[in-house]
Amino acid sequence: MSNQAVARLAGINVGSPAPHPSADFGLIGLAVMGQNLILNGADKGFTVCAYNRTTSKVDRFLDNEAKGKSIVGAHSVEEFCAKLKKPRRIMLLVMAGKPVDDFIDALLPHLEKGDIIIDGGNSHFPDSNRRTKALAEKGISFVGSGVSGGEEGARYGPSLMPGGNEAAWPHIKDIFQSIAAKSDDGEPCCDWVGDEGAGHFIKMVHNGIEYGDMQLICEAYDIMKRGLGMPVSEIAEVFAQWNNGVLDSFLIEITRDVLRYNDDDGTPLVEKILDQAGQKGTGKWTAINSLDLGMPVTLIGEAVFARCLSAIKPDRIRASKLLGGPTPKFTGDKQAFIKDLEQALYASKIISYAQGFMLIQEAAKEYGWKLNKPSIALMWRGGCIIRSVFLKDITNAYRTNPNLENLLFDGFFNKAIHNAQDGWRNVVSKVALWGIPAPAFSTALSFYDGYRTESLPANLLQAQRDYFGAHTFRIKPEYANNNFPEGKDIHVNWTGRGGNVSASTYIA
Ligand code: 6PG
Repeated sequence: MSNQAVARLAGINVGSPAPHPSADFGLIGLAVMGQNLILNGADKGFTVCAYNRTTSKVDRFLDNEAKGKSIVGAHSVEEFCAKLKKPRRIMLLVMAGKPVDDFIDALLPHLEKGDIIIDGGNSHFPDSNRRTKALAEKGISFVGSGVSGGEEGARYGPSLMPGGNEAAWPHIKDIFQSIAAKSDDGEPCCDWVGDEGAGHFIKMVHNGIEYGDMQLICEAYDIMKRGLGMPVSEIAEVFAQWNNGVLDSFLIEITRDVLRYNDDDGTPLVEKILDQAGQKGTGKWTAINSLDLGMPVTLIGEAVFARCLSAIKPDRIRASKLLGGPTPKFTGDKQAFIKDLEQALYASKIISYAQGFMLIQEAAKEYGWKLNKPSIALMWRGGCIIRSVFLKDITNAYRTNPNLENLLFDGFFNKAIHNAQDGWRNVVSKVALWGIPAPAFSTALSFYDGYRTESLPANLLQAQRDYFGAHTFRIKPEYANNNFPEGKDIHVNWTGRGGNVSASTYIA
């Protein structure tokens, strides 16, 4: 039992003698992520104060993992705040939602103007918008920070995406950039993201992209397994090979390892896992936000729906007995097809990131945030789940041109997607013929073809809308005349006048 625990049992309030404010920052929430961030901070030379609602966890932590390190504990919010140097820097790593608000309320009576509350959970960005404003009115700086990289990342270097009240940044920059992961060029994977909930917004998009990357990988695995009839051990080696090329990334690497992992009977464990995907909601938030902002972030949307489709397994079992389709049969050069598959994955990934950055760009406009795009790509280069070599190229693209309209217009990515096209088209067409679902590969290609098409069939759609609902349409400038003036909302009585539509037009 720790000295503190003994003291408490003896009725001595270990928190009462006005504690010396020795800690550089404090962290509330001692689940594994929280503990690991504290240990990481201590390793970097900071003194950290730990607090948890169930205070026995504080004692256990101090007596074990934290022993001998520059870590102090507190057994009440009051004691915790008293142990922090000013301005107080407090990070919450508690469940998103009400627990964050509850802790903020509990902290407020013990804080002073200029103190900083950081929420490091997976909070929804509108909550962080609200908290930034509400706390600013009380003179407290709120920071909503994306934290990515799981338990391992928290311990040895996560990707950190802080946003909120910028007044806080000079006070937390050193701590954040010290504990964050470093890119292979030694740059910290952490920078100021932007105002209000921008940090949590960027983390949300990160998670959406994570969903997309994972779905693309799963589709590639399925295509190799069912389309090419490859055993899992062979597929693992393809991923191992891909991890040495343009797809080199954490998610490809762990896929290789997962596929190599055999159960005690010597067969791949992955084949025994129930094919029903879970989700906690951050991918769904990204998809909903893209609909709200009118941005075609189709790949993340498909990735979320693919998880939903996987989850309705009983329906799929029934449908598998009732709904027919082709049986995949591959003929030809397998190695060449695997090369095409690599290109298809690469091209689809480029589309997914281009869509993600389109959403970020639109959010900056819509919410009036100043966002630093080169830094966002840099923050994702190391420490986080989507870390990859590829993000170095994205960082370079936005460093070369911070106002780049679309990632696909950057010289490097423009060339890359052109080079990948033949293989990509081959894969998407083959899997359609084989009856293997590849929603992420397919939507990426459809988006690419739609985005590069000057005239889409939305002219017909507008006519339909006007026909049944008088929703009006606009005329193409080259066809404008007195009856159909340019830039005006026009309605036609489509049934009333036979071919003579011009007589029945009006300008709304
Ligand atoms: C990260 C992860 C992390 C978490 C996902 C899982 O960046 O470290 O994204 O935040 O693992 O939210 O999300 P799902 O449970 O929805 O797959």
